[in-house]
Amino acid sequence: MDERIISQTENAQDQEWSLRPQSLKQYIGQNKVKENLEVFIEAAKIRQETLDHVLLYGPPGLGKTTLAAIIANEMGVQLRTTAGPAIERPGDLAAILSSLEPGDVLFIDEIHRLHRSIEEVLYPAMEDFCLDIVIGKGPNSRSVRLDLPPFTLVGATTRVGLLTAPLRDRFGVLSRLEYYNETQLTTIALRTAQILDIGLDELAGLEIARRSRGTPRIANRLLRRVRDFAQVLGKDIITENLANEALDRLQVDRLGLDHIDHKFILAIIEKFRGGPVGLDTISATIGEESHTIEDVYEPYLLQIGFLQRTPRGRIVTDLAYRHFNLEVPTE
Ligand SMILES: Nc1ncnc2c1ncn2[C@@H]1O[C@H](COP(=O)(O)OP(=O)(O)OP(=O)(O)O)[C@@H](O)[C@H]1O
Ligand SMILES: [Mg+2]
Repeated sequence: MDERIISQTENAQDQEWSLRPQSLKQYIGQNKVKENLEVFIEAAKIRQETLDHVLLYGPPGLGKTTLAAIIANEMGVQLRTTAGPAIERPGDLAAILSSLEPGDVLFIDEIHRLHRSIEEVLYPAMEDFCLDIVIGKGPNSRSVRLDLPPFTLVGATTRVGLLTAPLRDRFGVLSRLEYYNETQLTTIALRTAQILDIGLDELAGLEIARRSRGTPRIANRLLRRVRDFAQVLGKDIITENLANEALDRLQVDRLGLDHIDHKFILAIIEKFRGGPVGLDTISATIGEESHTIEDVYEPYLLQIGFLQRTPRGRIVTDLAYRHFNLEVPTE
């Protein structure tokens, strides 16, 4: 299922590091987040202090990892990267923390997946830049405090609701990344085209943007696949027509929906008269697990208003009927 071309999660062919903007100036969109960070970074530099800890949250592929690297760049410090699932024991985290240089940015991706016992190592580290280490066992054990260099923790998560309150409260800056609009995604596609030396017309860029589900990662991926078509056809420049043709062949429709989205919506329309229908019933009908439906299929359809969640179940909206050129049912 991750082979869906419109999947928001990263895949091996995405080659993202080469496409990542290096500075806040190059980072397109997310203006509120960017303006705030600009001020905080500037202020921290004037005071010659580390930047407050930053939590970045939002759906996959919107630029959290990119932003973490930019923060380190803008502060002029090193970036150290790890991820929640990679830290297995409290000692692993203690080792990472004690190897930091003063001012470093420590980026913990998928921070909601940190084990509780490991989180507890983070609390004093974030608050007082120190580690509490227990030496020995049983009644003779004692706790020693080790000083750490001041650092900035940048945490990223797609599931901010899963973060415990004590962890969330220790971040000074909480930034939520939003989906990008067409204009911003067009700019991103044109920028990527320039880096990869792809000839891309502006209207072709817009067509890619429209079908990218608000997500830069998808825009970059669609651009690469459209380039494949252009190369096979021996064209140097991707025009609007060529982009449209290629994207249609890739089965990504004008709103960025693929055949799985179609199957899902059409099943509710054809088998349940558009709903309301319960999640478990849909799950049994289309043979997909409920959590996959909730986490992967539904968010974008809810966001573009094709689907509604009600206490009685899921309902397909008039908008969706019209997208499929179907007659909207009357009560
Ligand atoms: N504001 C932006 N301007 C230009 N390109 C961007 C921007 N945001 C993201 N990108 C591009 O989108 C791709 C995905 O970004 P990134 O890896 O930072 O997303 P993420 O939020 O960390 O995703 P995940 O939640 O899956 O870790 C990168 O290749 C990056 O080049
Ligand atoms: Mg990331």
